[in-house]
Amino acid sequence: MISSVPVDSNAPKYVHGHDPATLASHAVRTAANSCGYLLPHLKPGMSVLDIGCGPGSITLDLAEIVGSEGRVTGLENTAEPLGAARQMAEGRGDSGTRFVVGDVLQLPFSDESFEVVHAHQVLQHVGDPVRALTEMHRVCAPGGVVAVRDADCAALSWYPHYPGMERWRNTYRKLAKRSGGEPDAGRRLRTWAHAAGLADPVITTSTWTYADTASCRWWGNSQADRISGGDLPWSGDRHPGGH
Ligand SMILES: C[S@@+](CC[C@H](N)C(=O)[O-])C[C@H]1O[C@@H](n2cnc3c(N)ncnc32)[C@H](O)[C@@H]1O
Repeated sequence: MISSVPVDSNAPKYVHGHDPATLASHAVRTAANSCGYLLPHLKPGMSVLDIGCGPGSITLDLAEIVGSEGRVTGLENTAEPLGAARQMAEGRGDSGTRFVVGDVLQLPFSDESFEVVHAHQVLQHVGDPVRALTEMHRVCAPGGVVAVRDADCAALSWYPHYPGMERWRNTYRKLAKRSGGEPDAGRRLRTWAHAAGLADPVITTSTWTYADTASCRWWGNSQADRISGGDLPWSGDRHPGGH
């Protein structure tokens, strides 16, 4: 049975927030460009939990793959992005996917509830990622799949050298850590999985590449919008990494 639990008000604040610019930048994500490694494991009829689903574009792609015989739930620890997710579901003619409020650190589901338990770009924002993975494992059915993908901010690279970009990265990493997260999560996933008792995790890497004018412009403008108009607490901290 699915229900919502009260969310811990002392939990770390999610650093990006859910302003329109941030939601728009997340809403372009698809299952193909964000969890391609998971797709070969999906079959029609499966039950899927998508944790930290944000505006739901990946969740709804997963729902299309498992089809009307499947069962897909998107979960967020705040209702803020779920209006956008439900709106997107309606626009895509999906009336089956459910969106609920709950915390990955205390999932509101009984043991072994889902065949696939997925989180994209979420563990980096969670104060205790090992506990999150332990919870994900708990609600995953025997023989099921726990799947996570996270960025590694220190591994972002670009050319030519541009001091403003370094300042952006330094500032973001500082703010993310201050919010209780780990911006360099990608390299830590294997260690966290072992600590959570997940034996033999399969590790892969993939990149988002912005290497043409249109995609560079999209990425740069979207980050600029998120800094200037968003919830990210840059103000008063404009140049903390400013060299
Ligand atoms: C970077 S967004 C990723 C959204 C979506 N998965 C995607 O890739 O487009 C991270 C999401 O995780 C959610 N989140 C953060 N901490 C969480 C927690 N403890 N439990 C559940 N969701 C959480 C945030 O609200 C946010 O929507």
